[in-house]
Amino acid sequence: MLIDTHAHLQMNKYDRDRDAVIARTIESGIECIINASFDLPSSRQAVKLAEEYENLYAAVGVHPHDAKTLDDGTLDILRELSKHPKVVAIGEMGLDYYRDLSPRSVQKSAFGKQLRLAVEVDLPVIIHNRDAHDDTMAILKQHGDQINGVMHCFSGDIGFADKCIRMGLHISFAGPVTYPKSHQLRDVAAYVPQDRFFVETDCPYLTPQFKRGKRNEPSYVKAVAKKIAEVRRVAFPEIARITTSNARTFFGIAD
Ligand code: NI
Repeated sequence: MLIDTHAHLQMNKYDRDRDAVIARTIESGIECIINASFDLPSSRQAVKLAEEYENLYAAVGVHPHDAKTLDDGTLDILRELSKHPKVVAIGEMGLDYYRDLSPRSVQKSAFGKQLRLAVEVDLPVIIHNRDAHDDTMAILKQHGDQINGVMHCFSGDIGFADKCIRMGLHISFAGPVTYPKSHQLRDVAAYVPQDRFFVETDCPYLTPQFKRGKRNEPSYVKAVAKKIAEVRRVAFPEIARITTSNARTFFGIAD
């Protein structure tokens, strides 16, 4: 059994067949899916889906691309949504200097505000960091040891992974770990301590190698876990057990 700790099933790419996608995910042995949000509408949709489906949970938050939409009213609504029993994290939030779709000063401010919200409501955070390692760490450090966070779809080398681990963060691996050229990422997957990582799809994006070019879905998280089992030289059921247990503890999802 596995947990897909980061999906986006609320997106309209699943409007035609969402029921079927969720059904085959459960059938394939994925026991829960956490839908991460990127703006206010997607946060509301993630909560609604979590109410409709037993195996679905939600994270509410605003992605750095949409950072300019995080005004005080939005923050208040996120605070209300976060009280829902199936909301297990705030996110995704963070910094994206690759696409820079919101000005960097606005991204930093939205990141800080959501970190403070997470501390206030006592939930873990899902962090999106693309080409912004230094500023991401600097902002996290301002919040000291209060942040229980995961670097979602980790990108970086062992040195950066080490910094994250020393700050108490978790690391989550997605489809790129299966790509032929991702040697550095597989080195990180072999390296991270057993109690500090889990797996995700980030679907509909980042489809694992065996279905690359197609829409991604939570059942494909198995390919991510299999690759990690291979690089860590442990059996697949052991990786499933470890990542599921780590994710349950991190997100506070009872067994
Ligand atoms: Ni995502």
